[in-house]
Amino acid sequence: MHIKRNFGFVAGLIIAGAAVAADPDGGSRPWLNPTRSPDERANMTLAQMTLQEKIDFLHSSPVQPDNSGVPAASSVAGAIRPAGRFPGVARLGIPALLEVDGSLGVGGAPGNPATAMPSGLVLASTFNPQLAFRKGANVGAEAHAKGFDVLLGGGMNLTRDPRNGRNFEYLGEDPLLAGILAGEEVRGTQSQHVISTVKHFVLNANETNRFYLDAKIDKGALRESDLLSFQMAIERGQPGAIMCAYNKVNADYSCGNSWLLNEVLKRDWQYRGWVMSDWGATYAQGYEMKGLDQQSGVNRDPEVWFGAPLKQAVESGTVPASRIDDMVRRILRSMFAVGVVDHPPVPASVDYQAHADHALEEAREGIVLLKNQGSALPLAPTVKRIAVIGGLASLGVLSAGHITAMPIDDPLVVVPVGGQGNLRSASYIPSSPMAAIQKAAPNATVLYEPGSFPENAAALAAASDVAIVFATRQEVQGADIPNIKLPQGQDALIDAVATANPNTIVVLETGNPVAMPWLGKVSAVLSAWYPGQAGGQAIADILFGAVNPSGHLPITFPVDDSQTMRPKLPNFGADPKAYVSLDYSEGADVGYRWYRRVGMKPLFAFGHGLSYSSFGYSNFSVMSGKDLSVSFDIKNESSRSGADVPQVYLISAAGEPRVRLIGFQKIKLDAGEQRLVTLTVDRRLLARFDEHADRWRIAPGVYRIGLARSAEDVVTTQEVRLQAAEFK
Ligand code: BGC
Repeated sequence: MHIKRNFGFVAGLIIAGAAVAADPDGGSRPWLNPTRSPDERANMTLAQMTLQEKIDFLHSSPVQPDNSGVPAASSVAGAIRPAGRFPGVARLGIPALLEVDGSLGVGGAPGNPATAMPSGLVLASTFNPQLAFRKGANVGAEAHAKGFDVLLGGGMNLTRDPRNGRNFEYLGEDPLLAGILAGEEVRGTQSQHVISTVKHFVLNANETNRFYLDAKIDKGALRESDLLSFQMAIERGQPGAIMCAYNKVNADYSCGNSWLLNEVLKRDWQYRGWVMSDWGATYAQGYEMKGLDQQSGVNRDPEVWFGAPLKQAVESGTVPASRIDDMVRRILRSMFAVGVVDHPPVPASVDYQAHADHALEEAREGIVLLKNQGSALPLAPTVKRIAVIGGLASLGVLSAGHITAMPIDDPLVVVPVGGQGNLRSASYIPSSPMAAIQKAAPNATVLYEPGSFPENAAALAAASDVAIVFATRQEVQGADIPNIKLPQGQDALIDAVATANPNTIVVLETGNPVAMPWLGKVSAVLSAWYPGQAGGQAIADILFGAVNPSGHLPITFPVDDSQTMRPKLPNFGADPKAYVSLDYSEGADVGYRWYRRVGMKPLFAFGHGLSYSSFGYSNFSVMSGKDLSVSFDIKNESSRSGADVPQVYLISAAGEPRVRLIGFQKIKLDAGEQRLVTLTVDRRLLARFDEHADRWRIAPGVYRIGLARSAEDVVTTQEVRLQAAEFK
């Protein structure tokens, strides 16, 4: 491991950095005085700008796609590839903005590596806001040291479909969990003076025909679910920018949706940052009046609408100059508020060792132990013969294709698989679970079997003390998976191995839930998602008990597709350019809420996750005051230290069944340790949104609150009476 490394800077960036030194006495450029408020500084800057300079701020500079399909800005050729670039106003000391993707670490290019973080679902499974902050800060620090001002992170679309190809990047199905974690990630990134987005606003819950998809939903239900998660993330993280989505929401494209952008985001939530389009999501002229502030990725749009056509519209009076000022002011305000003007990116050494430690810790906390029959795990260090089967576990762990950062020490292994679009190759991070297993059991014979022939794998399993099958499924941006089965005959492989040796452990590397027809035959199952650059070690640490698992599911695992809200993938097989629609008629009852509503028992519930310790809960009490608060004692009843995630759910509201997560905490406890936990409940989680009155309402009556281990495993409940209330 290289501990610290400087990355070269391209000349343009250094010049940009030098040009923006603050003007401490507020002399000729008082907007550079950091003691003034961001609003004041933005207004002062705006007053100096010509119309052309303002217009230049509102659309990305054209970038040429290279043959990988990833845009590269010619002026930074040889440097890490930005996703977007905006020129700034050098004469005023306003730097150019360079943007980069960051959901799984700083989006990389060969020769410009970054920490390959675990995927979003790993972070979500940790249920740990501190880790979210640290991930954001670490990725932000790397972005800053590589010359970027904007991180296109904060991916947080709620999981409405367990086949959405992009769920791996997001934070699960619950608004509270996703909102808190995304908010913390943003706060972390912006603590490094790098602006963060949250994305994709909103209801980008399926990738199939995403440019042509009309996502339909009841507006009040949207406020209580996907919009609530964004609202919470925005309140907590104050992101400098919001990225609107590719899809339509109730007939209008997200980036041209006045209700979403002007009414909900800017009027009701008083959002002060700017709205940038997703790349290729500005489909027509006129979005500026619908609330879009900046056109990104112009090379993917039919025209640079926010360039010459917008200028002309202002000059002819069709678009008021005040609207242009509002757009530019929002961008400038975020630049001043987050500190990209006062603390521009500078070549800096990055503590990659600390970030590697973080990637390992996050994977260790985010891997979920789903089943552990007869304490099959942890494995004894004395185990003699271990069969490692499938998933290229001899090589590394699967990752999420083209958006994976290039790991620091060993390059990604890109296996061409010949599919379309992002499915043309599979990326493996060379963190070999097999090598880590061998290291954890140095005296054992560890043999690998690729799993192409179930018969060969079964023969090796039969001759081993334990068989560990690695099952993978590649999921990517731009495509949904057709169903939640394991592909490529892996179900038959697991079945054959488990038949040969019942001491079979399955490790899943997927971006979504998995159907497990073989579940009854295997002794243990781990979900490792896409665990990032330290995935192999984290998996082995859990298998051998060096780490006590503490991940919990942020997504419900249905038994199979037939149990899901839409048993068939919507719009499967449609012409890729066909306009399609999808009615999210479950409304706010996303994920576990829907399973509870229809009384269906999933395979593994939201919030489920086993530990090698056991935890007891007692003295649950619920208090209604200005806010509802709950308290309880939690005790580690085992002889080893571990961490638990007690969860508090609303069970019924004013006499009606209504299940939703209203509080959670990740708690680390030593063996035998007991702790008192107190949580305060956000009152929106107890309310319904009245779209006509444009406010939240709490109905008076009795509310049942439960303390639980998962959405399906409620340990104890209490009732509390709430008064009627309404609020904005
Ligand atoms: C994705 C965004 C990403 C952008 C820039 C788009 O296709 O949807 O999430 O930030 O590309 O790379």
